[in-house]
Amino acid sequence: MKWIASAAFGMEGLTGRDLKRIGAENVKVLSIGGAEFEGGFDTAMRANLWLRTADHVHLVLAEFEAKTFEELFQGVKEIPWPDYLSRENAFNIRAHCVKSTLMSPSDCQKITKKAVADVLCAYYKLSRMPEDGDAVQIDVDIRNDCVCVSLDASGEPLSKRGYRTWNGEAPLRETLAAALVLTSAWHPWQPLYDPCCGTGTLLIEAAFIALNRAPGLRRAFAMESWGFVDKKELEEARRQAQSRYDECYQRPIDIAGSDIDPEAIELAKRHVRQAGLSNRIELNVADLRDVALSGEAGMIIANPPYGERIGDRRVSHAVSRQLGELSRRCPGWDVSVFTADMGFEREFGRPASRRRRFYNGRIECEYHMFENGKKKRR
Ligand SMILES: C[S@@+](CC[C@H](N)C(=O)[O-])C[C@H]1O[C@@H](n2cnc3c(N)ncnc32)[C@H](O)[C@@H]1O
Repeated sequence: MKWIASAAFGMEGLTGRDLKRIGAENVKVLSIGGAEFEGGFDTAMRANLWLRTADHVHLVLAEFEAKTFEELFQGVKEIPWPDYLSRENAFNIRAHCVKSTLMSPSDCQKITKKAVADVLCAYYKLSRMPEDGDAVQIDVDIRNDCVCVSLDASGEPLSKRGYRTWNGEAPLRETLAAALVLTSAWHPWQPLYDPCCGTGTLLIEAAFIALNRAPGLRRAFAMESWGFVDKKELEEARRQAQSRYDECYQRPIDIAGSDIDPEAIELAKRHVRQAGLSNRIELNVADLRDVALSGEAGMIIANPPYGERIGDRRVSHAVSRQLGELSRRCPGWDVSVFTADMGFEREFGRPASRRRRFYNGRIECEYHMFENGKKKRR
């Protein structure tokens, strides 16, 4: 079976790398939108459980060209829908159109709904589908006149790991936080410190990586309610992920953070507890200027505030300067900073050794990596 792991701009390569690691076959990183792969339901379940930077896993049902609504209707009608949808299933359609002749998502959604309903009504001998059972999400993605029809195997976006129930000021999406940790030069045997930790997302994602914890271990996926899937394969993938975590949970880790805002630290503590990481991550209220780090090498990782307005920008420049001072106080530590403040390096005091561009929602941001530290293997 062919699958697509969709991912935000900049995360396609990381998603492809994770797919290879979980044993997916014929992984192809797309220039935009994620990575394709092949495998059975067990592979897709592992993708749901283990992909740290992807948004959704989709089962591809058909790909065809369509420049007219009639071509779209006929293409969707060719799919053997009764293989996937029971008499009772509700089915929702989500349409997305990019650079195509068919550019109206709402019309494409209606045409697809009608085509699916026609096939199912004829098969189940009904005049109208009752749609009173579990809902299955159908995606229609049209790019350059090529249609891809798929089922969403994830349900809620994979960024929702289940530990974050309260949002503080501008929290990072979990998938983006994981991408920042994976892109940095941090190794899980090194100390990691976030001096502007907010609600703790970077720290929790780093701990998940260090402890070999599948990010999706504590949540459900849409494919677990698909009637046409052998549930034993999916349960086995979940059991394996749990036993990997059980094996690694006792590993020593050195992950800590602080924030000037006591409310943010309260939220971070709650999220750490909800992630099952109580006593594994140290959290304190502290102004960046007072942070002192012991130990000769580690990674400082931060997502400081970046203001869109002039007044906020003055604050964000001050924080950038304080991060530069922190880096000079801790010469053995690498520093990685994610910010939309385009004057960041000037305020920080030196050019980054590496940079990567990511989007935080719609905001274009730069990830500045300053490599100072000696990497000691443990
Ligand atoms: C963009 S938010 C970080 C969000 C965090 N990554 C998360 O996922 O929740 C920036 C954080 O920097 C903190 N901050 C601002 N100035 C600070 C300072 N001088 N010292 C320490 N923290 C500061 C804010 O309180 C805020 O929580």
